Amino acid sequence: MSVVNVTASRSYDVTVSDGILDRCGEFCKPLVKGKTVVIVSDDNVFPLYGKRVTKSLENEGFVVKEFVVPHGERSKSLSSYINLLEFLFESGVTRSDLLVALGGGVVGDLCGFAAATYQRGVQFVQIPTTLLAMVDSSVGGKTAVNLENGKNQVGSFYQPSAVICDPKTLSTLPEEEYLCGCAEVIKYAVLFSEEFFSELEETPAKDQLENVITTCVTMKRDIVKADEFDTSERMLLNLGHTVGHAVEGLSGFQTLHGQAVAIGLATISRSAAKYGYLSDADCERIIALLEKYGLPTDTEYTVDDMYTLALSDKKATSDTITIVVPRRIGHCELMKLPKSQLKDWL
Ligand code: NAD
Ligand code: GLY
Repeated sequence: MSVVNVTASRSYDVTVSDGILDRCGEFCKPLVKGKTVVIVSDDNVFPLYGKRVTKSLENEGFVVKEFVVPHGERSKSLSSYINLLEFLFESGVTRSDLLVALGGGVVGDLCGFAAATYQRGVQFVQIPTTLLAMVDSSVGGKTAVNLENGKNQVGSFYQPSAVICDPKTLSTLPEEEYLCGCAEVIKYAVLFSEEFFSELEETPAKDQLENVITTCVTMKRDIVKADEFDTSERMLLNLGHTVGHAVEGLSGFQTLHGQAVAIGLATISRSAAKYGYLSDADCERIIALLEKYGLPTDTEYTVDDMYTLALSDKKATSDTITIVVPRRIGHCELMKLPKSQLKDWL
């Protein structure tokens, strides 16, 4: 079992251990005085793991209710959010009760935003069941829903009270979704550690899951501690996301988030190499590792297609946009560009 403590506006543990799902009630019990827990999940994950989570919570004396949305990005919407708030109200949930997000980043972001705003804030616990959610979205307190054409445009910073990670749940994750998590894992390695990058080259992430999850969570913990509200260093985590969000949006969310991030990471690496910020050798290693993990590294969308959506990125001001540029494997830098230069980088 590994435990990583996150210190932000709330301090909490991320616990990583095979089989921990059946003990989630023990972790939730000390957090709240209330008796009600609402599990927020989706229609793939709840049938697989809902019973085990419910049983563990009931064993600790909680009354458990569930709110299950259709799987997929479309559920990270204002309408799901409002339905969830209405459900909480109708169920008599109070500020001393608890929400539990059981699933991937979609239900984590939705549940987190509802927790942040329902009655001005109720506690919530993340039980991530995708690799992407384990290494990234469940930690650090970014919560959000999408506008019709605007990814994560409505949200808040609101930390969970605990994160409970059971790598065994990844055994049922479709391969494609698992690979999306690998894109975020490779992103961490490019950002912070050449040693970790080499480990990923040598040993598939699948064969070292607890190490991979704990390493990424520790990296994210350090960034969140330094810059919880995303005004400086935390923006580094957006490596690959300027192009990634544009590709995701252009595809109507048919391209999965991790695939879009992989395309974004490859694109920015090629541009960084072209402009002499990154060596050709490191660029080739990054693209080779993405390909080794079965991830896409190119897109058919044109620069013009991507430009408009990339500009709606939250890191843009009226005149500039901040991009994340790899300088070598294990080290990246933020670069503020006049918007007019973004097309060259795309
Ligand atoms: P997701 O939540 O849509 O899950 C992917 C798919 O896998 C879904 O169909 C889901 O039902 C299924 N699934 C989940 N766990 C499963 C399991 N164990 N077994 C079988 N099926 C399972 O997608 P995701 O990739 O986890 O998250 C993507 C979302 O996360 C995006 O909305 C993205 O914007 C957000 N995100 C947020 C942050 C943050 O910091 N808050 C960071 C990165 C990404
Ligand atoms: N996933 C980016 C962040 O948490 O800042």
